[in-house]
Amino acid sequence: MNDPILHDLRSRYTCKKYDPSREVPEEKLQILYEALRLSPSSINSQPWKFIVVSSKEAKRRLYDTFSEPYHFNRQHVLDSTVTILFAHNPRYALEDYETVVEKMILDGRLPAEKKERALQSFRFAQMHTDENGFNGHWTKAQLYIALGNAYHTLARLGVDSTALEGIDVERVEAEFRKELDGFACHVALCVGYHHETEDFNARLPKSRLEHDSIFVHL
Ligand SMILES: Cc1cc2nc3c(=O)[nH]c(=O)nc-3n(C[C@H](O)[C@H](O)[C@H](O)COP(=O)(O)O)c2cc1C
Repeated sequence: MNDPILHDLRSRYTCKKYDPSREVPEEKLQILYEALRLSPSSINSQPWKFIVVSSKEAKRRLYDTFSEPYHFNRQHVLDSTVTILFAHNPRYALEDYETVVEKMILDGRLPAEKKERALQSFRFAQMHTDENGFNGHWTKAQLYIALGNAYHTLARLGVDSTALEGIDVERVEAEFRKELDGFACHVALCVGYHHETEDFNARLPKSRLEHDSIFVHL
């Protein structure tokens, strides 16, 4: 099957070695950030925060958080152009949703007089919230929609990336406590250009389960 969308999705892959001499242009990064901002989420909750690690100093801070068995991932942080910490709010509350609803009014999506009614949608967040106010499973699921969106956007832009669940969550959250401000970070995304000769993954064929083993058409 030939299609420009499929071409993009077939040509993207997980970069295993970045070329530190090649920087992703700022215009492309800005497109990525805007794509992340435009990501959809349940009840438009947007329970996320993206911390862009780009300065030498910030990269070193992140690099130093890696521990075993994730050392194999850490060089990407130094060699890629930026690494984005994908963070989710583990205790998404009504006041967070109120900020969203107020923005919907500001953007002209919701008439101001419908604010109280719109806030009632928060019950869909409450359904995923335990007695301690924890709803991190639900907010993390929303965050991964943004991650998928980033993948596709980067494929379209011809920019390489590596998602990293292989981070030391405790150490990342301790090192970036101030910036995370109560949010949790379980995944990061390195963004850059692959090394022409040293990225073994660039030359491997894509491998996925066959359609018939993962789809049920009724
Ligand atoms: C959420 C997530 C976390 C991942 N974590 C890592 C990681 O820590 N290190 C790594 O090298 N690859 C990581 N990967 C890459 C996957 O192994 C890779 O996407 C998968 O094998 C498919 O290969 P492809 O991306 O080259 O098509 C991760 C991918 C996803 C989606």
